[in-house]
Amino acid sequence: MIILENINKIYKTGDIEVHALKNINLHIKMKEFTAIIGSSGSGKSTMMNILGCLDTATSGKYLLNGLDISQIKEDKIAEVRNKQIGFVFQSFNLLPKLTAVQNVELPMMYAGIHAHERHERAKKALERVGLEDRIHHRPNELSGGQRQRVAIARSLVNNPAIILADEPTGNLDSKSEKEIIEIFKELNKEGVTIVMVTHEPEIAANCKRAITFKDGEIISDKINY
Ligand SMILES: Nc1ncnc2c1ncn2[C@@H]1O[C@H](COP(=O)(O)OP(=O)(O)OP(=O)(O)O)[C@@H](O)[C@H]1O
Ligand SMILES: [Mg+2]
Repeated sequence: MIILENINKIYKTGDIEVHALKNINLHIKMKEFTAIIGSSGSGKSTMMNILGCLDTATSGKYLLNGLDISQIKEDKIAEVRNKQIGFVFQSFNLLPKLTAVQNVELPMMYAGIHAHERHERAKKALERVGLEDRIHHRPNELSGGQRQRVAIARSLVNNPAIILADEPTGNLDSKSEKEIIEIFKELNKEGVTIVMVTHEPEIAANCKRAITFKDGEIISDKINY
């Protein structure tokens, strides 16, 4: 479902060029649970941003479900991003003035879904992550782990084919971390494809597949049994 062919990303800042991704070739199949590891600055977030259509590669080909992302127009890319991809970030990225259920409703507003259905689907997504008793809480009234669960619920509401999570447990204590990983595993069992960046080797060892980045290149790609 995800095919990267000879992907390069070069950032230019003034006179300085950073070759953040070097000839990346990668296939990720439907229903895989892939961990991305590697030291700071190795290109993990750069790759996630390209996978999530938040940024484009400098060269190379990206196919998502047969669609050539490197060739399509910006408005179509926005639609693909909204319908096919769910994002979960280290810093949660929730809107502070909105309640949990309102935060989860947001991606459906962009997708043009009616208010009643939006609300019902948002409540169901919050139930799926075990937060049915916190739907009217605002982010600052929730723990870090609960905030991340709201973000996961938000990433799920448009039934994306893939969830991209960039260090989703980076700001969490170890108990919340375990809970979040369990939720991802559960979703993966239900058929959601997950790509997750992590700094924890133990978490990576727990995923079906672990890919290691170094200096913009893939240096290992392991399937765990
Ligand atoms: N927007 C940008 N403009 C210029 N250079 C960038 C930009 N984003 C990232 N870089 C550079 O690209 C390289 C890869 O960065 P990236 O954020 O992908 O690393 P990472 O593996 O996610 O690191 P971390 O584990 O610290 O999050 C780094 O050298 C970084 O300085
Ligand atoms: Mg990063």
